[in-house]
Amino acid sequence: MDGYLETLKKIISEKESIIGRKLTCQVTTFGCQMNARDSEKLLGVLSEAGFIETNSDDADFIIYNTCTIRDNANQRVYGRLGALKPYKKKNPSMKIALCGCMMQEETVVEKIKNSYGFVDLIFGTHNLFDFPRLLVEMYERDKYTEIWDDTDIIKEDLPVKRKYPFKSGINIMFGCNNFCTYCIVPYVRGRERSRKPEEIIEEIESLVKDGVVEIMLLGQNVNSYGNNLENPISFAKLLTMVEKIDGLKRIRFMTSHPKDLSDELIDVMASSKKICSHIHLPLQSGSTKILKAMNRRYNKESYLELVRKIREKMPDISITTDIIVGFPGETREEVLDTIDVIKKAEFDNAFTFIYSIRTGTPAAKMEQVDPEIVKEHFDMVLSVVQETAKKRTERFLGRTVKVLCEEANESDDTFIDGRMSSNTVVHLKGSKDLIGKIVDVKLTEFHGFYYTGELV
Ligand code: 5AD
Ligand code: SF4
Repeated sequence: MDGYLETLKKIISEKESIIGRKLTCQVTTFGCQMNARDSEKLLGVLSEAGFIETNSDDADFIIYNTCTIRDNANQRVYGRLGALKPYKKKNPSMKIALCGCMMQEETVVEKIKNSYGFVDLIFGTHNLFDFPRLLVEMYERDKYTEIWDDTDIIKEDLPVKRKYPFKSGINIMFGCNNFCTYCIVPYVRGRERSRKPEEIIEEIESLVKDGVVEIMLLGQNVNSYGNNLENPISFAKLLTMVEKIDGLKRIRFMTSHPKDLSDELIDVMASSKKICSHIHLPLQSGSTKILKAMNRRYNKESYLELVRKIREKMPDISITTDIIVGFPGETREEVLDTIDVIKKAEFDNAFTFIYSIRTGTPAAKMEQVDPEIVKEHFDMVLSVVQETAKKRTERFLGRTVKVLCEEANESDDTFIDGRMSSNTVVHLKGSKDLIGKIVDVKLTEFHGFYYTGELV
């Protein structure tokens, strides 16, 4: 990697001396926390190579780190790409790159080549670690595409430029083996592979030395972490190792598949001083029949039993979830099952999605539901989600809680936005020097899904 980074630096500095200024770059992320973390590596490489970051569309290099979980993610990328064409016309030396999950689909790459021929570099999820070389190839050959079908390589040595100095995501595993029938992730992110615990601990220790107080352990299903290691270890054991790192204050993780959530994990969470009081536990559907068709490997009752067990040990924990409405064959009766679980589980928040057909997945071949009926069902679910989440999240009103101050409020910079351990957002009056600190805040007003509070 080093060799290519050096070559890249030379290429960029030659370009700088020709145009008489520093080159600018824009990194845009679509999708999940994993993509956000990957983008920090893209920006790390570009910064090291000499680029200055910008949000502007007239940058000298633009890269879109794409997502393909639902079709609207793809459409957003095409829309943004179309808007870049005039910029590229004005500045022919501008370079445009695409990477991420969408690029792992052959039909997408074909479409880009046919309809967006001005794109200069295309690569996928499996060779991001090779970004410096891929950039060199692009500058040397003008246009370059390299997509790998799969990989078992785990290489995490790119320079990273973090969005937040005080918090960071960290990949503990890659890929997914679950093949939920609606989901494209196993096809675009490959088979599940875990990083060694020593490597993870070392990376967190160095992040903490660099000022990080909160980390988020990332994986498509963290609950099956470690299964495929030479010396298998459970996710709960990994957490106990992470807990011991001095200076680290908060631990979060995403995402937990309900089928693999162990009693050991519940116990470790309940006794931890650092693991946040929040778990994201995607339900997808409350109907046992639909869950079976989705290949989720739990049912309505076992999901509710899991929630009961979690709340028995941690009564105040926030549980959030993902729900899909409109999976093939879903009837009103099954939507009512989902609504029943939402009411019983009392989620703090639920991300509700309309089912999106993904070519190549088993559900794409099943009989689809009429979009108008789906919309009706979606509205029914959404209104229950909003009502239940509001009722549940209101419990904090009047309490004094710990808040990690994250950034100045966008519309009023005399306010700081932060997060409680439960992941609930809090706005508090205060100056920017609070950013990165964990402070005590009395929650004075509840606004449906976030709080306003005062420093105490
Ligand atoms: N359609 C709609 N939502 C989907 N998700 C995954 N695949 C699809 C799809 N094809 C949702 C799931 C998952 C979240 C990240 O995205 O709820 O938990
Ligand atoms: Fe997709 Fe299911 Fe894997 Fe999550 S667990 S990434 S929903 S296949």
